[in-house]
Order: sequence, then C-alpha cells, then structure tokens
Amino acid sequence: MIDQRKLPQEETYVKCRSYECVAEAIEKMVIRGAPAIGVAAAFGLALGFQNLKTAEKCDEAFSKIFLRLSETRPTARNLFWALERMKQVFEENRHLSFSNLKKRLVDEAAAIEHEDIEANRKIGFHGKDLIADGDSILTHCNAGALATAGFGTALGVIRAAVQEGKKIKVYVDETRPFLQGARLTCWELEKEKIPTVLITDNMAGHLMQKGEITLVITGADRIAGNGDTANKIGTYPLSVLANEHSLQFYVAAPFSTVDLSLSEGAQIPIEERDPDEVRTIRDLCLTLPEVEVRNPAFDVTPARLISAIITEKGIARPAFEDSLAQLASERMSEKEG
Ligand code: MRU
Repeated sequence: MIDQRKLPQEETYVKCRSYECVAEAIEKMVIRGAPAIGVAAAFGLALGFQNLKTAEKCDEAFSKIFLRLSETRPTARNLFWALERMKQVFEENRHLSFSNLKKRLVDEAAAIEHEDIEANRKIGFHGKDLIADGDSILTHCNAGALATAGFGTALGVIRAAVQEGKKIKVYVDETRPFLQGARLTCWELEKEKIPTVLITDNMAGHLMQKGEITLVITGADRIAGNGDTANKIGTYPLSVLANEHSLQFYVAAPFSTVDLSLSEGAQIPIEERDPDEVRTIRDLCLTLPEVEVRNPAFDVTPARLISAIITEKGIARPAFEDSLAQLASERMSEKEG
C-alpha cells in the first residue's frame, strides 16, 4: 500500500506480509479513509489466515486476527462491514479444504476491493448531475482514490463531473491536524489537472460570504439510520456555514458506510487520537510540548444540515430514515435476486 503519511513529498510503498503489519498500517494511518480501511482489513484477515501453517485451531486463529483488525480504528463503519463480511464467508465455507478456504478468503477480499471501485464510479455517475458547470466546490479531508479502492467518493463525484466536461474549481480545506486535504486531496487533484485552491480550515466562512464557494461535498465514515453523518473533524462546522449561506451540502459514500443498526449520530463512536498530532506537524513542535490537547478525529453532521447523501444505489434525500431504508431494501433485493 502507498504510504499516505509521506505524501505528497514521497511516493513510497509499504509491503505487509502479516496481519499485524496491516493492523499497524491502519492504526498509524499508512492507509486511511473509510472504504480503504475496509479493503485493507479484509486483505489483512485473508493474509493472516493464509499465513496459518495448520488447520488445527484455525477457528481460534481466525477470531484472533478478526479481533486485532477490528480494534484498529473505531469510527469508520466500512472496517467492521468488511470484517463481518469476511467472517460470514469463513463460516459459510468452513466445509472447504484448508487450502481452498484460504483461497476463498483472498477471493472475497478482492471482491470487496473491486466492488468498492464499482460503487465509487456509480456514486460519481449519480452525483455528477448535482454539480453545475462553473461550480466552486469545497471539500474537506480526502475522500478520493487514496481513501477508497479507487476513484473516490466526494472526489469521484467531482471526477465524474469533470469527465463530463464541466468546468469546476475545487477549494480544499487543509484539514488539521493530519492535513489530508493539503497533502492528499491537492496531490490527487493536481495529478488530474483539476483547478485546485488550498485554504486553511478557518477560511470557508469568509469565502462563502464572498460567493466564492458554491457548494460543499464531503465523504463519510459512518452514517446513522437517520442520516446523521460522522466524517473528518471540521465537517460539522462546514455544514453549519453552508446552511447559513444557503449552499447545498452533499455527502458521498458507499452503502458500506451506512450503519442502520444506529438510529442517530450520537451513537457513533468517535476516535480520539494521539495529542501529539495536534502539538506537532511532522515532528516540529508548534506549541508547548506538554500543553493539554483534545484530538477527536471525527465529528457528526446532523442530518437536517445535509441536502443529500449520494450512494451507489442512488441519491438519498431527507427524510433520510425513509430514503436510506428504501435504498437499503433495494440493495437487499438486488443481492437476493
Ligand atoms: O482519519 P481518516 O483520514 O481515515 O478520515 C477520513 C475521512 O474522514 C474521509 O472523509 C472519509 O473516510 C471518507 S473517505 C471516502
């Protein structure tokens, strides 16, 4: 996997030969972004099982690997969704020979990867009609190819609109403290020559007031049944600003991010990360080394501030309880069919 901590200065890759290496890569943000974490966890589980020497006690071994990977990061639904899907495949194929079971798990991880790219392309297809020629779009964090198996969610919508010939400018929040916007989103957009303007996280209100930003689109880490959406810290204030300025605020995410077991966003676990991420930038201390810090990695945008949620199954509009449930049932029936 590409080491996202080193971008954009260095394009280096980390090769994982054990599930522990994958777990650490997720924890340390070598790989990040909800769908990408899910894909990595699925491959980590397949890899851990692949490395087992004997079928004896392989159920216990599977559970141990599952647990380790599930404890890496708490907020993104996709991580748990992918691990649960792998577990179901393991249980349903327990009758296979040890080597065929290993292969089956690798195939499932690959399917999760391919389906994610497909989902992103569909999100782009549905979302591009919400973008007008000449829009200046604000995005937060990185919801691009790096954060997924490819193409991206929020950036997938932008890519699809650009591919259709729309002239778009993208304002990118730097996204303190980990700087996903400054380091990763700018890198992705620049590669595709999409006009990009980097701003610090406190500039959005001013630019909205001036009419320089015409809509906001972000990704998501977990969407509750009522549409409340956890995404990178700093997303919630953008939704408040967008509403104050009567701008559309869109969320783009695959259905694997939707958690219908949660009725509202207050139930979403919010990760608190290492305080040194706030005190420092790349080992340079910005403040007093011991100053007290809070570092919640995500916040929850209330559903009432979200104009639409763009998924691979179509666009959900308020009331999200109904529209998400409707899309979920279509997904089930498609799967069953
Ligand atoms: O902490 P991160 O970098 O994993 O957080 C990522 C985000 O918040 C993204 O916006 C979200 O996962 C959507 S990625 C398609």
